Amino acid sequence: MAPIAVTPDNVSPERNTVSVKKVLSNGSSPERTPRPSIDAAVRLNDGNTIPQIALGVYKAPNGEETEAAVTAALDAGYRHIDSAARYANEEACGRAIRRWLEETGTPRDEVFVTSKLWDADHGYEPTMKALLDSLDKFGLDYLDLYLIHSPSDDDQKRLDSWRALEDAQKFGKCRSIGVSNFGTAHLQHLLEHATVIPAVNQIEIHPFLQREELVEICKKHNIKIEAYSPLARGNKLEDERVVKLAKKHNKTPAQILLNWSASRGNIVLPKSMTASRIESNAQIFDFSLDAEDLKVLADCEENYVTGSLHKTED
Ligand SMILES: NC(=O)c1ccc[n+]([C@@H]2O[C@H](COP(=O)([O-])OP(=O)(O)OC[C@H]3O[C@@H](n4cnc5c(N)ncnc54)[C@H](OP(=O)(O)O)[C@@H]3O)[C@@H](O)[C@H]2O)c1
Repeated sequence: MAPIAVTPDNVSPERNTVSVKKVLSNGSSPERTPRPSIDAAVRLNDGNTIPQIALGVYKAPNGEETEAAVTAALDAGYRHIDSAARYANEEACGRAIRRWLEETGTPRDEVFVTSKLWDADHGYEPTMKALLDSLDKFGLDYLDLYLIHSPSDDDQKRLDSWRALEDAQKFGKCRSIGVSNFGTAHLQHLLEHATVIPAVNQIEIHPFLQREELVEICKKHNIKIEAYSPLARGNKLEDERVVKLAKKHNKTPAQILLNWSASRGNIVLPKSMTASRIESNAQIFDFSLDAEDLKVLADCEENYVTGSLHKTED
């Protein structure tokens, strides 16, 4: 992978924590080695860092095709895989991750693994059991991030599931915990009762669905946004405004959408099963969208929802 050292100046200061760690105790910086942009990371409210780009594996089969995609991502420099019990591919992801770690001699803690609690498993005991089942399928001792995939309609069950996540974090079964598909009301209810503030809210977000109000609430509580379906499932890559920006920056339409999200400090989770796309989807930090470009993308808002788990108005 060709290293790219350029860091756009419109990104969160928490980006590139890998480089930040390298600041010496006397305050000077070590000799600068170019870092691949793919190293960009975001600091979570629990102090952990999360690689800003992940390979998403929704709808990826539990077999060799997914193992190949995960391996291609790791080879390309990704250090973050976003799976879920619901995707039914934790085994394939786990096989690929464990094999890659072993073959490259990379320590486990250099790859960030996310899974999610499915809706059928809400409640304290079922949540604990589901998490252990996911760990078993991955063949891992802990997850880096475990999320409630979508909020139960039952207030008590939702809180019980969250309490299980808090305990699982205490027991070391997952390093960070968060939620997904939580709207403002779900978040506010959780915050009133939680001991641990979720580290992330994983929601559908892209220029065609910007969700400013929910983003503001997450910001206020230092809950990072994980942008799912950041390519609007590929449905907006031919939008003429996006294509025009891609030509202007000599980038692909996908890279324009991913840069938009990453430059807002979001963690971005593009899914692809195609090695060349996996690689190019991570080459998004070597250019900046200017104010005019951002205005064009701001005007793309049309409340375009692709996901069925997006349950709330906000
Ligand atoms: N928490 C949740 O409820 C939730 C819901 C949805 C998604 N997610 C997460 O977010 C991830 C991404 O979302 P998503 O899978 O819905 O959609 P997405 O990443 O927005 O789009 C994926 C689609 O775009 C295509 N694609 C990828 N890169 C491309 C490129 N450079 N050029 C052209 N087409 C490209 C892919 O095709 P190929 O595979 O053929 O390359 C695939 O059809 C998921 O995999 C999952 O990890 C979470």
